[in-house]
Amino acid sequence: MEGSAADPGPVAAGTQRVDETPPIGSAGSPARVQAHRVAGFEALLAPLGIPIAAEPDPGRFLLTACDGALELRPPGESDRRGIQADFPPDREVTRGGCRQPSRPELLVRAFGARIDGILDLTAGLGADAYRLARAGHRVCAVERHPAVFALLVSGFERARRRGDVPEEVANRLRLEHGEALERILAIDAPGVGVYLDPMYPPPRRSSALPKRALQVLRQLVGDSSDAAELLAAARSRAARVVVKRPHRAPPLAPGTSHALASKLVRFDVYVNASRVRRAGDAAGTSREDV
Ligand SMILES: C[S@@+](CC[C@H](N)C(=O)[O-])C[C@H]1O[C@@H](n2cnc3c(N)ncnc32)[C@H](O)[C@@H]1O
Repeated sequence: MEGSAADPGPVAAGTQRVDETPPIGSAGSPARVQAHRVAGFEALLAPLGIPIAAEPDPGRFLLTACDGALELRPPGESDRRGIQADFPPDREVTRGGCRQPSRPELLVRAFGARIDGILDLTAGLGADAYRLARAGHRVCAVERHPAVFALLVSGFERARRRGDVPEEVANRLRLEHGEALERILAIDAPGVGVYLDPMYPPPRRSSALPKRALQVLRQLVGDSSDAAELLAAARSRAARVVVKRPHRAPPLAPGTSHALASKLVRFDVYVNASRVRRAGDAAGTSREDV
């Protein structure tokens, strides 16, 4: 992906690159979202095209600043807390504070070790991207909806300021506003992994996100209608594609190499043998490429 049109050069890891092209599809239109009382976030919101309103319209989604990050409230829910991107995910409160889960995660196992970076092309609020970066992968998390991207960036930056994100994890995770298909078409290094967690119609019994966050996200962005197209494109360009599916749902496309499943969720793995890195064959591929 080095030097490609979609990747104009290295960007400081752990920071966002804001793509100013309008998102594809009406779900990505920022018109339904406005911001109010967002002091300190103007520079993040302006290039995303999200208007700041003096008097918010109750018929629109509302972004406001809360506890040092942005939160999003659906129309008509001004009296309820909004959703935020919270890092690190999987926080378990113990007497001594927070700890990380010790069990190896299915998602991490689905990618294995022989991957030269991962593109999470449906980043959402970033929980899965964070898990992959925490496991040691370099991850580029791509989200197309401007408001979701604003939540993601503001939540991640707040966690970093608070010292909740280890520096080595922050250095492995990059956030990008953009369209998944464009990012797939720009892959030009072998060995790259792609992760897809498209939005599915309800009921969806498991997700990286808490239930309310998922409901609000679905209300905002709708279901992913382009998931099968993304999978087909990713399979031709990536060494390994992992797709998160509800437990009992059929695969998004035939040809899975294998799957890892829990009671609630399944990760379908598609391996592209022609692009899998052979042991010791790292020539031409840099871990900086993702
Ligand atoms: C189910 S959520 C992902 C949740 C995520 N795995 C997490 O841990 O928070 C799906 C997200 O993918 C985004 N998305 C869907 N299609 C996309 C595309 N073609 N390009 C970029 N983002 C996309 C949606 O806007 C939505 O935020």
